[in-house]
Amino acid sequence: MRIPITTSHPTHDRAAAARYVLFATGVTAIGGFLFGYDTAVINGANSYLKAHMGLSPAQEGLAGAGAILGCIPGAMFAGFLSDRFGRRKMLFACAFLYAASGVLSAIPRSFEPFLAARLVSGLGIGASSMICPVYIAEIAPEKQRGRLGTLFQLGIVAGIFLTLFVNKLIQGLGDDAWNAAYGWRWMIGMEAIPAVAFIGLLVAVPESPRWLAQKGREREALHVLERAGGAEAAAREMAAIRAAGTQEEGRFRELLGGPFLRPLVLAMALMAFSQFCGINAVMYYSTKIFATAGGGTDAAFTSTVWLGLVNLLFTFVAIGFVDRAGRRPLLLVGTAVQAVALGLVGWMFRTHQQGPVLLACIVAFVAAFAMSMGPIGWLFASEVFPNKVRGRAMSLATLTVWVSCYVVAQTFPMMNDSPAVGPARTFWVYAAVSLASFLFVLVWIPETKGRTLEEIERMWERRGVGEARP
Ligand code: GLC
Repeated sequence: MRIPITTSHPTHDRAAAARYVLFATGVTAIGGFLFGYDTAVINGANSYLKAHMGLSPAQEGLAGAGAILGCIPGAMFAGFLSDRFGRRKMLFACAFLYAASGVLSAIPRSFEPFLAARLVSGLGIGASSMICPVYIAEIAPEKQRGRLGTLFQLGIVAGIFLTLFVNKLIQGLGDDAWNAAYGWRWMIGMEAIPAVAFIGLLVAVPESPRWLAQKGREREALHVLERAGGAEAAAREMAAIRAAGTQEEGRFRELLGGPFLRPLVLAMALMAFSQFCGINAVMYYSTKIFATAGGGTDAAFTSTVWLGLVNLLFTFVAIGFVDRAGRRPLLLVGTAVQAVALGLVGWMFRTHQQGPVLLACIVAFVAAFAMSMGPIGWLFASEVFPNKVRGRAMSLATLTVWVSCYVVAQTFPMMNDSPAVGPARTFWVYAAVSLASFLFVLVWIPETKGRTLEEIERMWERRGVGEARP
């Protein structure tokens, strides 16, 4: 239905609009928090789980990787479903999956039901990694889209960080026997609490205005846009959304032949680079890395806390600069520092140097990632696709993340422990990937700061697929 563009909120209250957007995006970022919590919690729970259920090494590996494997179908289906049924419904679905997996993972007495619960958990993580960035990009005014998009990554790293302390706290409540029988259940089960809060808060979150417009529900779309940015901005955005074309749902096919193949390839490549630089080798195996470097368990825990803290703090650097300096400068500085830091880590392993300098280099790598690739991978993918196929396209980009993440998690211990490769060469591989991503960003990634999603869409239509950066 076409309606005239009129304003129902003539006096626009900027502060109220800012609060409205911050609430909607902040609640959505809880999806990131649960993602971080759920992917990291298994590290603390694994050894007790192993003792309790008598797991073989292969089962132990599956207990860890089960959620990542579940992410693959989760990310795959969420895109199509969110284009068809709406972003808000998918956000609810994620919250329910998290709540269910928290409860289901805490109950099992044997391995199989536990693994099934972890797969459910993966469905939630995979789906939220697709839908949360998309929802935020679609509701955020363009001048703040970077900052608000980074809230998702802030949620992830906050979740990872908090798990360390929740696990430690629960571990301290009893002896090893208690932890093996009950401790791990609390560690994983605690996730149900923020998941239920997520469900409650989502009730007050509006549907994405771009999805509404896409479905021809323009009056509702305009209402959300007005509350988010004022009447004038809403009228402008609504006109731009119409001009970009509404009401027909896109198909996968449209991504493959036309001008949108280019953002698809760029987003998938950026996502692959963000994983193959080895961030999750450090996130998932920091204890092993510091043990290889000769520290004790306590030293490893302290080092992991440092990593988590730096990860959190440097995400604020991205929040501060992503809409001012832009995506490209952050990515270029970040990937360059990553390459140098990882090169040094490899060299220290090669020359058997350990201690604080090695820790400092790993910390520098995590800091560089946190202000660049970490948040901007999700952000870039959420903002470069046209409205009508954004969900489906984002599914492909997030699928790339999870497949790459799985490959890194699976191959890191194999490479690290193999006499033919060893830790030095492993980190040099990650350094080479970081260098390649620097060059890739330099040549191919366009700046998207300050442009509306529809302006970005037009930018691709004007360019040929093989031409250099717009
Ligand atoms: C990014 C990555 C994710 C990683 C996290 C670490 O969100 O996509 O895989 O675990 O950063 O901070």
